[in-house]
Amino acid sequence: MRIFVTRRIPEPGIQMLERYHDVEVNPENRVLTKEEIIKGVRDKDGLLCLLTDPIDEEVINSASRLKMIANYAVGYDNIDIKTATERRIPVSNTPGVLTDTTAEMAWALLFAVTRRIVEGDRFCRGDKFKGWDPMLMLGHDVSGKTLGVIGAGRIGTSFALKSKGFSMKVLYNSRHRNDILEEKLDARKVSLEELLKESDFISLHVPLTSDTYHLIGEKELKMMKENAILINTSRGAVIEEEALIKALKKHWIWGAGLDVYEHEPSIPRELKKLDNVVLQPHSASATFETRSKMAEVAARNLLIGLKGEHPPNCVNPEVFKD
Ligand code: GLV
Ligand code: GLV
Repeated sequence: MRIFVTRRIPEPGIQMLERYHDVEVNPENRVLTKEEIIKGVRDKDGLLCLLTDPIDEEVINSASRLKMIANYAVGYDNIDIKTATERRIPVSNTPGVLTDTTAEMAWALLFAVTRRIVEGDRFCRGDKFKGWDPMLMLGHDVSGKTLGVIGAGRIGTSFALKSKGFSMKVLYNSRHRNDILEEKLDARKVSLEELLKESDFISLHVPLTSDTYHLIGEKELKMMKENAILINTSRGAVIEEEALIKALKKHWIWGAGLDVYEHEPSIPRELKKLDNVVLQPHSASATFETRSKMAEVAARNLLIGLKGEHPPNCVNPEVFKD
């Protein structure tokens, strides 16, 4: 069968696919346009795509032979699942392998903002360090504070568990009760409002859906403590970016650490001018180990789906019902 890969991914994944099928990989290291994706996938049986590829109704319906879509990401808001399901095309993601890696980035951002790591680095390189100063670069303590976790799935749980060494009080907001967090951390499931009002650090770990779009807007930002720090490693549009810029400028909150943006890859100029935000280029899963495992997971799902079997990480299992 024939497979289209929209951009080069780590070699182990490509090799797995090439062992069994004809594989066409986008030869250029850039995001393809929608027209190029349509051209590439038109006569293919399998598609391996990235979170930067909008796989909408038009793309899916332009590929009449398409039997399986494997997304190289855990989030799959870039794919029109409804259309894929109507066409009985299974779609898979890459959960599990990037859980700790993403949680680690959330912690990296949390500390970078709280202890002003990036600002301090710029300060030193700019030869501004003139000696120890009692009032220089003051930030906040982490230990003993209240951590608020929004979305307590795999990544949110891993993120919260890593707080153990900092003896924090943990609050979470989630659809389901999380026994692991309650047993291991004495965490408490609370309403979004209570979490926003009580937490010193708030980290987002929800998928982007119609329910979580703009979950954090002006009203929510105003509920947060003046010293609150907001971390986002989920999807940009979970936060209303304009409102966040306003909150950071007016110091409604103390700072933010962002790995994702509402209109990626565009980052608002105003956000880039602020000192109380640390910015990362959507790289929370970017480690050698994890990106390689993601390639293997995506390839394995694609191979199984192309055999007409149930891929282990299928996000629309309805396609296998009669
Ligand atoms: C990254 O954002 C992913 O969804 O894997
Ligand atoms: C700081 O460097 C201290 O010794 O307190």
